[in-house]
Amino acid sequence: MTAKAVPMLDLKRQYEPLHRELLEALGHVLETQHFILGEPVAAFETAAASQLGVNHAVGCASGTDALWLALAAAGIGHGFGPEQEGESRSTDPVTVVTTPFSFFASVSSILRAGATPALVDIYPVTFNLCPVEVERLLDGPRGKSVKAIMPVHLYGQCADFSPGFGRERGISVIEDAAQAWGAERNGVKAGGIGDAAAFSFYPTKNLSAAGDAGMVSTNSDEIAERARMLRQHGMRRRYYHDEMGWNARMDGFQGAVLGVKLKHIERWNEARRAAAARYDQLFRAAGLAESGTHPAKGVILPTEAPGRRHVWHQYVIRTARRDELRAFLAEHQIGSEIYYPVPLHLQEPLKALGYKEGDFPEAERATREVLALPMFAEIRPDEQETVVAAIAEFLS
Ligand SMILES: Cc1ncc(COP(=O)(O)O)c(C=O)c1O
Repeated sequence: MTAKAVPMLDLKRQYEPLHRELLEALGHVLETQHFILGEPVAAFETAAASQLGVNHAVGCASGTDALWLALAAAGIGHGFGPEQEGESRSTDPVTVVTTPFSFFASVSSILRAGATPALVDIYPVTFNLCPVEVERLLDGPRGKSVKAIMPVHLYGQCADFSPGFGRERGISVIEDAAQAWGAERNGVKAGGIGDAAAFSFYPTKNLSAAGDAGMVSTNSDEIAERARMLRQHGMRRRYYHDEMGWNARMDGFQGAVLGVKLKHIERWNEARRAAAARYDQLFRAAGLAESGTHPAKGVILPTEAPGRRHVWHQYVIRTARRDELRAFLAEHQIGSEIYYPVPLHLQEPLKALGYKEGDFPEAERATREVLALPMFAEIRPDEQETVVAAIAEFLS
């Protein structure tokens, strides 16, 4: 095989054609001195809400903050700080259901909101929280304390929850849409499916800032107003604090960068979709694609579930000799990544939740088999051919 490096992600290819537009937008922030929130963030929020088809977008400092803000603004959890009058935290548990196969923040934000995470296994085809398992938990002994469900739209594909899920039981849905800008389920965009949603604009995300940034989206006037208050230390009026908030503000430079990139994200998502289709085609043509969810000698390709618009934040295959394959690709200077190598219930600081190995077999198996391949809007067909040829060589 000829050695040709393929990066996991090359942000410079996105930056170069945009550099004038970006420098102009950043220059405007310097001229107006709107460094924190202000006009660039407000303009981004308006455009973002309109693109998602939701009533409100609230910019904040990171996806992690967005998750906490969404939960707190929706009234999920006991919050933090001194116990308020009328509260009885110890005898009134608040449970939020989520997946063990996600980034750490999906669970840490629940704890930060003063609630208890309850984990439920994933559906192996999509890697997302399984609604049937969620129903089972809701019907069980912990069901009564559940106040919210947090589906994570992993890798850019919406989890299988319809708008209104849980409403009859008084349960909110808070979407972790960190990886899913532009994804849809039955024509509804991620961010508009639940009561509120959280986005991350970490630089590797499909819609990315030039640093840390995040956003809450919601159709609820009340949640949006509370999120705005909570992101500024719980202030509605300067230096009068109504609630225990935090500094979770978005800065003006990030608002400006995101405002520019928002105009291009649809095109980039379409390019990712084309790249995913090309990977599928290359793997099939090489005779490597296997069906089912248990890889034998080849690879199991990721799929777009019915009614879903996948935005391919990541293109993730399953394969049995994953770690060896990854090392082989690295030797050939081909990037790859494991999202995620350890399920959340087995992460050190979360062991106190009381789960053990074997509790979530699908999530645990996924951590051993998944491998994310180079994926970004600007990836070239010849680079994808190199990736698939290397995998074919390894598996031959
Ligand atoms: C699924 C998921 N949730 C939450 C986050 C947290 O976002 P951030 O890194 O912007 O705090 C991320 C991104 O890292 C993520 O991928």
